[in-house]
Amino acid sequence: MTENFVKVASKADVPEGSVKVFTVGSHQVALCQIEHDFFAVADLCSHDGAPLGEGELVDHQIECPRHAARFDVRSGKATCLPAVLPIPTYQVETRGDDLWVSVQKQTN
Ligand code: FES
Repeated sequence: MTENFVKVASKADVPEGSVKVFTVGSHQVALCQIEHDFFAVADLCSHDGAPLGEGELVDHQIECPRHAARFDVRSGKATCLPAVLPIPTYQVETRGDDLWVSVQKQTN
């Protein structure tokens, strides 16, 4: 894996159970913290393009604010209709108090 990580935020910017959106290069990335782990997904629903960063977390899923599709933030897989296509996920690394994200698309 190549080193394409960029510093995006501090851990304190993404409290437990929250979703925050950041611009990483040309990508809008929704960062969330669940059970002390950080996850990053595209801020774009695969169903009709709604901003997922405005959605809510349910366990390890993010729920789209428009039609309530859900996606697993670990894999990007759609877990609830009406979405059927996955969303991109991105690697997150914690380095000290900072969160670094690679917008290189994951293959999972
Ligand atoms: S736009 Fe997300 S479920 Fe329709």
